[in-house]
Amino acid sequence: MIYPLVKYGDPVLETPAEPVTEFDTPELHKLIEDMFESMYAHKGVGLAAPQIGISRRIAVIDVSAGQDPSQRLVLINPEVIRNEGRQVSEEGCLSVPGFREPVKRGARVTVRAQNAKGEMFEVTGEDLLARALLHETDHLNGKLYLSHLSPLKRDLIRRKIRKLQKEGEW
Ligand code: NI
Repeated sequence: MIYPLVKYGDPVLETPAEPVTEFDTPELHKLIEDMFESMYAHKGVGLAAPQIGISRRIAVIDVSAGQDPSQRLVLINPEVIRNEGRQVSEEGCLSVPGFREPVKRGARVTVRAQNAKGEMFEVTGEDLLARALLHETDHLNGKLYLSHLSPLKRDLIRRKIRKLQKEGEW
């Protein structure tokens, strides 16, 4: 099932998501499959559950955008445990469509998370994967990439979005 996306302005995106406590259930496996399907349909490389209106600490990532099944990552209750170096490149978000801005992020990032069975694992990524790990973990903490921009740039984007909302185009 392909979920519609929740857009900036919906409070679910700025609310810390609830930890997952029950693993390996048919419902959880189905939700994860639906999240991958939704992410591919909306042409993203990462998707967090709050972006489909579900306030739970689950995110999926595929930096190959569906080209390489071995790149599929499921992160449940993820925590950033290492964040080193620095990279700056353009970042966007499916929940803030039409905008992309350069964002400073760590260049090498390690996240500790659980898989769908509840098993703990660690994943380390560089470049785009490092960025995706941070971006998706942020989502689960109720934080959008806009919070990493300068106040000036953030206000400019907020104003443009407000205008789109008024025109019924958001
Ligand atoms: Ni996002």
